[in-house]
This record gives sequence, structure tokens and C-alpha cells, in this order.
Amino acid sequence: MTDALSDDASSHDAHHWVTLLGTSLRQEQDYVAEVRGRWPTDLRGTLFRNGPGLFERDGVRKRMVTDGDGMIRAYDIGDGTVRFRSKFIRTTKFREEEAASRYKYATWSTRAPGGILRNLGGGRRRSQAEATVIVRHGKLLAFDEIGLPWSLDPHTLNTTSRYQIGAPSDRPAFKSRTKIDPITGDWLALGNDYVEPLKLRVLVENAQGLSKTELSLRLPRKSYFRDFFTTARFVVVGLNAVEINTLSATLGLAPILSAIRWKPSIGNIAVVIPKNGDDPFAVDAPPSWCFHTINAYESGNEIIADFVGHDSPEWLLGKNPALGAVMRGVVKPVEDQGKVRRWRIDLNTRRLREEIVDETGHEYPTVDPLRVGLPYRHAYLATARPKQWWTSGTVRLDMESGARDAYEARSTQTLGEPVFVPREGGGADEGWLLVESLDGEAGVTSLLLFNAGSVASGPIAEAVLRHHLPFSEHGSWMSGT
Ligand SMILES: [Fe+2]
Repeated sequence: MTDALSDDASSHDAHHWVTLLGTSLRQEQDYVAEVRGRWPTDLRGTLFRNGPGLFERDGVRKRMVTDGDGMIRAYDIGDGTVRFRSKFIRTTKFREEEAASRYKYATWSTRAPGGILRNLGGGRRRSQAEATVIVRHGKLLAFDEIGLPWSLDPHTLNTTSRYQIGAPSDRPAFKSRTKIDPITGDWLALGNDYVEPLKLRVLVENAQGLSKTELSLRLPRKSYFRDFFTTARFVVVGLNAVEINTLSATLGLAPILSAIRWKPSIGNIAVVIPKNGDDPFAVDAPPSWCFHTINAYESGNEIIADFVGHDSPEWLLGKNPALGAVMRGVVKPVEDQGKVRRWRIDLNTRRLREEIVDETGHEYPTVDPLRVGLPYRHAYLATARPKQWWTSGTVRLDMESGARDAYEARSTQTLGEPVFVPREGGGADEGWLLVESLDGEAGVTSLLLFNAGSVASGPIAEAVLRHHLPFSEHGSWMSGT
């Protein structure tokens, strides 16, 4: 097996504008962006986003557009101005490879340079801290899915240390998505050990940052999952319908991503974990690939769990997925976009029913942070045109009626995850959406501001950067200056 792939190209164009998502931004930034429209004076704070910023060293290029060294971006908003800053996260991996001017470590989609011998056992992998960023007790925490997150100073964006979650002896691979309960202030993080048997850890810190609960359980099968649900009394983890076979990776022949194989015939499994330590139970669910949950809550004897689920992960897994093809200038169409799905889990019968809330293409969902784990009305998502793996619109979706308040950008523009910013003192769903947007024609990225209650009327203000930004999935808002 080699790293070379043949292209069954649909559109082979190394200069296609969407390749900018996989183009490094080496230079760290700090300047005041050009603003258009009027930024509200009562919107004050910083939007932090994370994503890969560097995709190649010494002639070796990462194989997926989502695989690279983490680069924190910060938009400081206040007094009608927007200051932009970016800095690479100084992980151990980044520092060592910067000093060596070459890659030393394998990442999830790309083997380390040096062939089989350098990749035996799956290769030495280190955190790139590129997946998510959250604000916790005045610190920024940047997650990969390897070990503990890295901690950064939100004011300087300097990397300070690893951040310990749970007991110091406990170093499972923490999932990049975490949740904050808006009622109790509890912070929930999930970790799992990749040794047999596959063990899941649920760690809960209270609002003061003290460890409150640590649950440990065996998962019913090996699987891959990225996100989870929380309600007042339960944590729910959806195990995707995949088989894990690490043989090729262990022999050094292929990156660890190759270990995940889509197998819809085995279905998904929902693992329902009571927070009070009672026995967890597992429920069969229809197959779909979930990267991102929307929200969950309890209603009578049911858990309602909403998420974005793809009919298959063809854009990510297999021999030549779209997220990899773009790194070679190939723009591939995709068939299986993310549908908005609802699981109804009956706590009495322990049965699950799935409903499709919206069939059209969606990703990167969010809700008003004050509604996490509670009954809610609106989800905010990025939307995708048919056949496209990147997102190019924003929608507020009414989860009761299915009504859509949607904005569609130009065909040469991407619109990423909407981050909900609550209006101070406002009610549920009162606030703004901050959306990063790449203009493929101009080759620059902007930050767009929407009124969350009227998405279709388009952005009310914009901050235009001086350059493009590479792919980014997730961000977090920190209010105040
Ligand atoms: Fe994600």
C-alpha cells in the first residue's frame, strides 16, 4: 500500500477556490479588520475559533483538509470594531517539528514520514490541538482527540500547558466536544481508553472547577464517536455503525483513520448513562454517521436526542474521500449529506425510534447555550448545497414545526458553524450568530454577524480580513473585553 491515490476526478482543478480551505496560513496575525455595516455596541467579547493552520512540512502534505496543526483565531469585538489575531498552538508536536523543519509524528489521516518502520504500531501520534476550543475558568482549552487538551491564555493566545481533567493519573483520550449544563454550571467531558476493553469515562466538574462525578463503563462494542448528548439526568453516547480494524495501521501500512470501516448492517447503538451512577443500558438505533449532536432533553418517559446524521461517511472514509481529494485539487461531489435526525428513546421500554426532521444538507449545529440539555425550540446550523461537502448557508431551524429561516451565500462562498451569542438579559434564542465565511473570488475570509431571529435577512455587519483562513469547524464565545 502506498500513500498515492488515483483520482476518479469529477472536477480536477488545483486552483479551485475551495482548495483555500486546505491552504496553510503560516504568518501569525494581529490587526484591526475592515468593518462593514454596523456592529452593535452591546456586543462585546471575543469569538475564538480553532482549526488546522499548517498542512505541510518538508514536502509532506496532510491528506485531509481537517488534519493539521491547530491555529487559534480570535475576533475581539467591541465599540464597533473587530480586531483579528491568530497564533499556532505550541503543542509538543508543533515545537519539535518546527525545530526540525519536518514532520516527526503521524496524525490521524497521514502517516509519519519514513515508511513502515516509522509507522509500526500506528506510528507515534501527538495532539495537534486543532479540533475545538472552549473557554473554561479564564483559560482557552484546545482539544484534539489525543490525551488532554492544551491550555492557552485568551489575552495573548500563548500556549501555557496541558490541562488536567479529572485525576492526574487519569489520561484517557478526551473527546473534543464538551457540554456545560446551564442550570448547574456543571462541565461534562468524555474520555475513552483505546485499550481493550474499550472503556468510556464521563467526567463532571462543578461550576467551581472541582471534580464532581467520575463514571467509568465498558462500551458494548468498539466504535467511533465524536460527540454526545446530555440531559438533566442522563448522558447519551451514540456509537456509529462502524467496525474498527487496526491491522493496517499497526503494521505501519496506513494511517489510523483506515481502521474505521463503515458497516451500516450492524446499526448504531445509543448508550444511555444515568448521571447518578445507576447501570447504563444500550439501545439499537438505525445506522447513520454522527459527528455533531444538536441537543437533548427529557420529556415524560422519553429522551429526545437531536443530531446531524449522514446516511454514510463516504466524504470522510474509504479510499478517496472528498475531504482528502481537495488536498490534491480534486473537488468531489458527495451524496450523503447531514440530515437533521431525532431519536426518541423510551426509558420504560428501552426502545428507540428515529425521525428525520430535515432531509436537506446540514452540519455544525448549535443551540442557545442557555437551552443545553433542556427543551428547546431552535437549532442553528450551517447548510450545504446538494452534492457539496462544504457548507454555504446558515439556518435557524424550528425543531417543532420544521420551519426554516435560512440564508444562502453565493456559490463561491463558504459559511461555517454559526456560534450563538446570547444578548445580555435577553430571553431564549435572543442574540446573534457569528459565522466565518470564505469568499472564494476575493480569496479572503470575513466574520459575518446575523441577528439570530432573522437569519434570512442576511448579515447585519461584517469584518473583512486581509487573507484567507483555512478550514475551521468549531468556535466559542467569551463575553466582555
Ligand atoms: Fe467537529
